Amino acid sequence: MKQDLIVILDLGSTRNTVLARAIRDLGVYSEIHPHDITAQELKALPNVKGVILNGGENRMVEGQAVEISRDLYELGLPMISVDYPQSQCGVRYDTLPDRETLEKFLFQECGAEANWNMKNFIEDQIELIRRQVGERKVLLALSGGVDSSVVAAMLIRAVGSQLTCVHVNHGLMRKNESESVVKVFRDQLHANLIYVDAVERFLGKLEGVADPEQKRKIIGGEFIRVFEEEARKLEGIELLGQGTIYPDIIESGTKTAKMVKSHHNVGGLPEDLKFELVEPLKQLFKDEVRACGVELGLPHDMVYRQPFPGPGLGVRCLGAITRDRLEAVREADAILREEFAKAGLDKKVWQYFTVVPDFKSVGMKNNARVFEYMVIIRAINTVDAMTASVEKVDWEVLERITNRILAEVANVNRVCYDMSPKPPATIEFE
Ligand code: XMP
Repeated sequence: MKQDLIVILDLGSTRNTVLARAIRDLGVYSEIHPHDITAQELKALPNVKGVILNGGENRMVEGQAVEISRDLYELGLPMISVDYPQSQCGVRYDTLPDRETLEKFLFQECGAEANWNMKNFIEDQIELIRRQVGERKVLLALSGGVDSSVVAAMLIRAVGSQLTCVHVNHGLMRKNESESVVKVFRDQLHANLIYVDAVERFLGKLEGVADPEQKRKIIGGEFIRVFEEEARKLEGIELLGQGTIYPDIIESGTKTAKMVKSHHNVGGLPEDLKFELVEPLKQLFKDEVRACGVELGLPHDMVYRQPFPGPGLGVRCLGAITRDRLEAVREADAILREEFAKAGLDKKVWQYFTVVPDFKSVGMKNNARVFEYMVIIRAINTVDAMTASVEKVDWEVLERITNRILAEVANVNRVCYDMSPKPPATIEFE
C-alpha cells in the first residue's frame, strides 16, 4: 500500500468531514469509520498510523451515547480525542485541532508521511478492488454522470474484462450524451458495455403523465426494471459497482456510523438479486472524484460536467412529456451549452439549462400567425444547491442564444430568462 492512513472514528461529531479534509490538506489520507468498529476491523485497514476519536460535544450518535471498544486502546496506535470532555486517552482537545497540533500528531506522534495523492490513491484502490473481487464478476450501471464514469474507469483499470457496464438510454439524456458514453467507454477504454435503447419504453410509460412526482417515480422505477432485466441475462455476477461518494455518507450526530457501515443493495432491486457492493470512491469528496477521473484518463468534459438530475430532461419538459417538446428542450439545451462554452461561462456558472413548459403562446413567423412553445433559460450559482442565485448573464450572450434558439429549434417562438433565486424557486422546475 502506498498511503498512510489516519482513521477518524465518528463518535457523533458534526465535523467529521471537516476534520478529514483538514488532514488530507496536510497531505495525509484519512477516512471516517463508525464508532463501533472492532479492533480486528481497524487492524485490517491498510497502513493505519493513528486514530482520532471525533466526539463532538457529547459523544452521541442518533441520540444514543456511544463509546469505542476497549480493545481499540490496546492496539497501541497513537490516539487523540476531539471535543470530548472526559477522554480516556492521553490528549484531549475541545475544538478541532489547529494546523500545528494536527501536524504534530500526524507527523511526530503517528510518524505518518504526506503521501496522499491521486496516483497513490488509485494504486491503493486498485489493489483493494482486486483483493475484494478476486476472480468474480462485477456489474455497473453507467449513467455517464461523473461518479459512475469514474467508478467505471477505476474498475476497468482494476479488473478489466470482469466488469460489465450497462448504459440505459431512457430517452431523457442530453444531446449526444449516450453516444459519448458509448464512444468513450467502448472505443477508448475498451469496456465491456451493454447499451440498452429503452427510449420507446420510457416515453411510452410516461405518456400522458403530468404530475412531477409521478414522472420521477416512473423514470426511477423503470430504470431499476430495465437494469434488473439486463442483470438477469448475465450469469455469475456477484458484485455491483457503485459511485457512492463522501457526501452521500451523511454527517453524524445523525447517521454516519450507520451509513459508513451499511452494505445495502442498490435501491429498489429485488431481494433475490442481492449483490455485494464495490464502492471505490466512497471516501472521496466531489472535487477529489473529478481529480481521480482526470488521473484515470477520462475526458475533461465528462469529469467536469455540470450536475444533471437522474430523471434528466424529463423534469425539464414540463407536464406530460411530448416528443416535440422533448426535442425542443434537448436542442435548446445544446445551443445554450455551446454558447456558454464560447463565452467562457461554462467554467463560471454552476448549473445552466433550458426548460419547455407545456403551453403555447401566439407569435409571428414569415408573416403568419403561429401558436408555439417557449424555451426558458435558467442559469444559477450555488455552493450546496440548498440556495441559489441567478447568474447575471451578459445581454449580448442572451441575445445570441435567443436568436439561435428561435432560428434553429422547431416549434418555438419565444425565449425567456428565469430571474428567480432559490428560495422561493427550486433550481429545477419539477
Ligand atoms: P432543486 O430543484 O431541488 O435541485 O433545487 C437541487 C439540485 O439537485 C439536482 N436534482 C437532482 N439530482 N436526481 C439528481 O441526481 C434528481 O432527481 C434531482 N432533482 C434535482 C438539480 O439539478 C440541482 O442541481
